[in-house]
Amino acid sequence: MRPSALLPALCALCALAAGRHAEPPVPSPSPHPAGRLQASFEVSIEPAAPVVEHGGSIRLTCRTTCPDPAAKGNLETSIRKHNFQSGPGETSVELINVTEWHSRVLCFYTCAGVRTTVWADLVAYRALEQPVLEPVPWMEEGESRNVTCWVPAVAPVRNLSVTLGWGAETLHTETFEHDARLGPHRVLVTHGITARRRHHGQNVTCQAELSLEPHGPHLSSDAVPAALAVYEFPADPELDPEIHLEVNETANVTCAIRTFFPEAHFTLSLDEQPLPASVSEDGRRAVAELSLPQPGAFRLLCAGRVGPKERRAQATVHVYSFPEPQLHVSTASLAAGEEVTVQCALPAGHSSPLRVRVRVRGGGGRPPTRWDPSPLRWTLVAREEDDGAELTCEAAVPDAGKAPKTSAPVRLAVAYGPRMDEAGCPRRQNWTEGQEVTLRCSARGNPLPRVQCAQHGRPFPVAEPQTAARAHAGTYLCRAANRLGETERVVEVLVDYYDPPVLLAVLVVVAVLVAAILAGTGYGIYYRKKKIREYKLQEKQRQLEMQPLAGRSPEAAAPNGSVPAAGP
Ligand SMILES: *[C@@H]1O[C@H](CO)[C@@H](O)[C@H](O)[C@H]1NC(C)=O
Ligand SMILES: *[C@@H]1O[C@H](CO)[C@@H](O)[C@H](O)[C@H]1NC(C)=O
Ligand SMILES: *[C@@H]1O[C@H](CO)[C@@H](O)[C@H](O)[C@H]1NC(C)=O
Ligand SMILES: *[C@@H]1O[C@H](CO)[C@@H](O)[C@H](O)[C@H]1NC(C)=O
Ligand SMILES: *[C@@H]1O[C@H](CO)[C@@H](O)[C@H](O)[C@H]1NC(C)=O
Ligand SMILES: *[C@@H]1O[C@H](CO)[C@@H](O)[C@H](O)[C@H]1NC(C)=O
Ligand SMILES: *[C@@H]1O[C@H](CO)[C@@H](O)[C@H](O)[C@H]1NC(C)=O
Repeated sequence: MRPSALLPALCALCALAAGRHAEPPVPSPSPHPAGRLQASFEVSIEPAAPVVEHGGSIRLTCRTTCPDPAAKGNLETSIRKHNFQSGPGETSVELINVTEWHSRVLCFYTCAGVRTTVWADLVAYRALEQPVLEPVPWMEEGESRNVTCWVPAVAPVRNLSVTLGWGAETLHTETFEHDARLGPHRVLVTHGITARRRHHGQNVTCQAELSLEPHGPHLSSDAVPAALAVYEFPADPELDPEIHLEVNETANVTCAIRTFFPEAHFTLSLDEQPLPASVSEDGRRAVAELSLPQPGAFRLLCAGRVGPKERRAQATVHVYSFPEPQLHVSTASLAAGEEVTVQCALPAGHSSPLRVRVRVRGGGGRPPTRWDPSPLRWTLVAREEDDGAELTCEAAVPDAGKAPKTSAPVRLAVAYGPRMDEAGCPRRQNWTEGQEVTLRCSARGNPLPRVQCAQHGRPFPVAEPQTAARAHAGTYLCRAANRLGETERVVEVLVDYYDPPVLLAVLVVVAVLVAAILAGTGYGIYYRKKKIREYKLQEKQRQLEMQPLAGRSPEAAAPNGSVPAAGP
């Protein structure tokens, strides 16, 4: 087929299709709903879709357009008729006490020997009763649950719609148009919801609507709303599981709930007796004050309630009597290397959770012993460093976060021989000539050793202020001694000193010589011969006097160990 021939053929098909849609619906066989044109007249029922409340009454009218005023017609129904009326081309009837949920009403007229019948379905409805929303119990955050609303005795069910909502939001609408039941039935509507905190306090609503329009009423009824209550309480309250208290000590116990919604209630009790507690402003903590006059173990219970849920935490309160700990040391005075036995104990009658330990302060530093039950015995071998250390006996409940109680201290005196070191007796000591200095040399030891120093066998006072002289330079032997022994140490003393500059000294000598020569020239004429031997002797003597200043080199000064300051 050529393309030019295809187009008109398609258009013909289009026209055929359009014509078929434009045609009136194919009539159903008689009898049929009102309004069917037959021959030259029409028969109709008014109202076309009659609706009546169950037990009520309704007026129905059958009309014809037959021009013959004598045309005969009637209404037929199984329901009791009342007030039958008839006029030209019109027949009316009132149906009373309609108790059939569904009935068919026939209407017919005979016009010019032709009988035409139409029918209408009469539907009885029941006044809508208030729907009932089943109460929604407390819901845990995240929990899913069905909310149920039921409408008692609805008729006809197919015209019912039920809407569930929460807050301003529509959750679910259910209709029943395919429900063929005509009599009254209870209708149940269910919808799953998942609770969130934001829904707390919102109302779940249920609205039932029975729509019978246009020939009947539109009825609507709301259920009493059900308020949603959402809670969250995922974990048990927090309470210290072990609480330690001294007899008559006052302490606060705290029970805390970290996560809760909407609010938490606390109940505290001690051995089944309610315990008054105050709740913090943010509602997370309850604090109760405890003070018990008797030692023992008590059960503390904290119950938290959020919404419908209760969670509990339990603790044991240990109440103990706490006497002063006592320290006994076998000997406080001993020699290094000897043993000392330490006993750290609580008097009889103390409670079991208490532990004791020995603590050493000062001396060479020793860690405390570990916490042990009373009485604690400890033997230590005295070291030199332990001299002067203070021992105490401590008692506490370990890890209870409370300061321990401490006995009176015992100070150890450890005897040991003399010890000299660089700190107390430096091996090199630098002095400066003319300054006030001391020879530093001290020794440790118990009893305190006596220290003596000597240079070339000559005693030299230790730790006594001296004016440094270059003769002090040299090597000293220091000796420390107490009754436990003695020790020696060599100390070298250096003395710094300062000499006038050599050049200046030479110039002075030259100047003096020149002056002497000039003077000698004046007097020389007269005395020359007489005094020449005497003059030469004098000059030689002067030169000899000056020689140590002018002629000595720095190296030449070194033998005695002192170092002169560098001259110009
Ligand atoms: C309506 O009909 C019912 C049962 O058919 C009957 O029990 C009732 O008395 C009637 N009511 C009236 C007002 O006639
Ligand atoms: C809610 O109802 C549906 C159907 O009625 C059921 O399958 C489901 O298990 C119900 N859910 C709950 C949480 O009860
Ligand atoms: C929920 O419904 C109750 C009862 O009708 C009403 O008093 C209350 O105000 C409603 N609450 C909210 C949040 O709408
Ligand atoms: C009531 O239900 C009938 C049957 O489903 C339907 O023909 C009619 O239109 C309905 N009325 C309304 C107002 O929905
Ligand atoms: C316990 O707490 C209260 C207030 O919460 C405070 O006044 C009181 O001093 C506390 N007691 C102790 C022993 O800490
Ligand atoms: C504790 O307190 C009570 C009453 O205040 C007193 O009788 C008792 O002796 C106290 N106990 C101790 C160990 O202090
Ligand atoms: C003392 O002097 C010498 C030599 O000048 C030097 O090496 C040393 O470091 C000095 N010592 C002190 C402690 O000043």
